Amino acid sequence: MYKIGICGAGLIGASWAIGFANAGFKCFVYDANQNSFAKFRKTSNKLIQDLRIINSDIDEVRINSNIKLNCNIEEICNDTVLVQESVVEDLEIKKKIFVQLDNLTSENTIIASSSSYLLISRISELVKHKHRCINAHPALPPHIVPFVEVAGGENTDPKIIKQAVSIYKKAKYAAITVNKEAEGFILNRLQGALLNEAVRLHEGEFASMEDIDIALKHALGIRWAFMGPFEIMDLNAPEGIKDSFTRYRKGIQNLAKEQNSIPEYSEEYLNKLEMDQRKRLSYDQRGNRVEKRNKMIALIRKLKSELGEDI
Ligand SMILES: NC(=O)c1ccc[n+]([C@@H]2O[C@H](COP(=O)([O-])OP(=O)(O)OC[C@H]3O[C@@H](n4cnc5c(N)ncnc54)[C@H](O)[C@@H]3O)[C@@H](O)[C@H]2O)c1
Repeated sequence: MYKIGICGAGLIGASWAIGFANAGFKCFVYDANQNSFAKFRKTSNKLIQDLRIINSDIDEVRINSNIKLNCNIEEICNDTVLVQESVVEDLEIKKKIFVQLDNLTSENTIIASSSSYLLISRISELVKHKHRCINAHPALPPHIVPFVEVAGGENTDPKIIKQAVSIYKKAKYAAITVNKEAEGFILNRLQGALLNEAVRLHEGEFASMEDIDIALKHALGIRWAFMGPFEIMDLNAPEGIKDSFTRYRKGIQNLAKEQNSIPEYSEEYLNKLEMDQRKRLSYDQRGNRVEKRNKMIALIRKLKSELGEDI
């Protein structure tokens, strides 16, 4: 059984721990703030219940026995196959933590950052053994969204990337490799393109927030749960993907010309966004919506599994 070190037990670290523990890994969890463990204990049962929706045979006792909380940083580094760093998205904090992790782990340990945007080449700048440092970016929440994108930096050994992908696959994640280091990797580049366009459309008063959300959740999102854009384009014209792009390229290119302005995300616009959002979605109900999101994700996973479409 592999031992995984979890460094940072917030939203992402806690969810990683449950995901790894469910796959049979021993997780040793460290956080600089004791309150994070109290929160972990309060929410972990709910996270495990999400897993039970996907698979009714989930063994809660086994998952809990695979997680050791309240560890110090030495404990998560000792004899560990991989340390998953999930502390706040702050380059200076991550750089310091990486030096500590590098000094405390053996040469065989992979050191992975969950960072959404910061590149491992920057995070590992002060580290001695840069060859074993990677980005391994999950999708929220990683206990039920079975995805991680693995990216190396300027000095990462390609063998380490392969080893990491294999570990994440053993932990039941669809692990993809990012071949060239790029800010936002794959997931947030795709998501960012969509978010920028949603904001352009809303700010330009082409449609309401509600209707833009509907276009995603009742159209594109339904397809995207089981097919990616290249698979979908293969079905959009009788001769396949080339036929589709040939027929529609003018239209798609014309859109690109209009989609090249960078939204300002000004304070004034963000205030309006917040106000409009609160008119339709109350802040008090946010916790319920998080639970609903997790439940819906788990139900989609269950359906995909029944249809032979899960990872
Ligand atoms: N929230 C998301 O949607 C999401 C998705 C994918 C990846 N990520 C990435 O995961 C990482 C963590 O994000 P989060 O949403 O879990 O944040 P969070 O604020 O919920 O958790 C961060 C945790 O790190 C701990 N911490 C801070 N400094 C520390 C230190 N020096 N040593 C040890 N622990 C420390 C905090 O106490 C906290 O528990 C970020 O890099 C973020 O970009 C976030």
